[in-house]
Amino acid sequence: MIIEPRTRGFICLTAHPKGCEKNVLNQINYVKSKDPIEGPKNVLVIGASTGFGLASRITSAFGSNAATIGVFLEKPPKPNRPASPGWYNSAAFETQAHQAGLYAKSINGDAFSDDIKKQTIELIKKDLGQIDLVIYSLASPVRLHPKTGIKHKSVLKPIGGVYTNKTVDFHTGDISQISIDPATEEDVANTIAVMGGEDWYFWIDALQKENLLAPNATTVAYSYIGPKLTEPVYRKGTIGRAKDDLEATAFKISDSLKSINGKAYVSVNKALVTQASSAIPVIPLYISLLYKIMKENNVHEGCIEQMERLFSERLYTTEQPNTDKEGRIRVDDWEMREDIQAQIKDLWDNATTETLGSIGDLEGYNTDFFNLFGFKVEGVNYDEDVNEIVEIPGLQ
Ligand code: NAI
Ligand code: NA
Repeated sequence: MIIEPRTRGFICLTAHPKGCEKNVLNQINYVKSKDPIEGPKNVLVIGASTGFGLASRITSAFGSNAATIGVFLEKPPKPNRPASPGWYNSAAFETQAHQAGLYAKSINGDAFSDDIKKQTIELIKKDLGQIDLVIYSLASPVRLHPKTGIKHKSVLKPIGGVYTNKTVDFHTGDISQISIDPATEEDVANTIAVMGGEDWYFWIDALQKENLLAPNATTVAYSYIGPKLTEPVYRKGTIGRAKDDLEATAFKISDSLKSINGKAYVSVNKALVTQASSAIPVIPLYISLLYKIMKENNVHEGCIEQMERLFSERLYTTEQPNTDKEGRIRVDDWEMREDIQAQIKDLWDNATTETLGSIGDLEGYNTDFFNLFGFKVEGVNYDEDVNEIVEIPGLQ
């Protein structure tokens, strides 16, 4: 079929297998262009199909020759109905990994469930024995709690008062004011239940009980801080509370891994266009200004540059990675540079529908957004008939 983007708000309902494949190949080539990393050997990536999780998987495999198991929740293709992008990404990744002689298998299902944890454990026992790196990179709007059966929905809201600021419709470039009502206590609790650390803890606990974590095993989850500007809707909002919980869970997990000398870290990453971040009000405008400034200063990175740097310059260099005083690894250092943030603050005040085209990188945002779904990727012929039915070679 000929596959075209069909967008509805901040989601795209279609995905292009060739475009997704090309994105994955570009990421693999980027990692191969860098020095090899003396990194992990057996890696489990939870949330492995898109964004930071996919980039972590690619860096593990092609930077460090690691065997990888990926867990994700993606929609398989049906005749005349393309799969979700993470499906095509995983198919491309595993095809390339297998061609390179690397072990790569995956499990598609709800990572929050006991059943998927059990399936993953069985696969590790059968094939890999022990894991030395667990990446936890889920971004989800809902979690069906495995113990209580309650379905928690996360929200993106401020806490304590209405938050009003500018936001952009990144399809049209229209800037408008948005007011978001504050969260209730229940909203906060639900968001923590979905995006906080409990499920990360459950995963590590389940793996450790089965003795599937190697001596000195590391686990890493991803967080975000960002500038004052977005604090009410991000770091001091509901999602920020969940990140506080995730960050606290790292200490709890590190404690529980003492007997194997294991370590849990949170890495604070840079703001990037992903399916998860497109859904957050105000953030897309911030990102389009950030992209402009970071590109001008030659410090712009995508998911793969971030994860390659995390592995090569933080996790696998010195014995203990440098952390901030809260114990977090920082690869958002370039985003948070004072000069970068000062420039964004100036631009923010001047950003209007009329000025954004020249002062922000709306085009970069837009391209990245479509790229997530395999569209607007350089070198792909979109007029060509493609087979929407693609298999993931290592899918269990
Ligand atoms: P993403 O949307 O690209 O990736 C989410 C992954 O989770 C996908 O592999 C998806 O299949 C998987 N997933 C979602 N629900 C699942 C479920 N129930 N069961 C199994 N798999 C499921 O998101 P992104 O942006 O890569 O986010 C990953 C982490 O990085 C999140 O913790 C996010 O908060 C964090 N982060 C994101 C930043 C950004 O700007 N995008 C910045 C800093 C941190
Ligand atoms: Na991810």
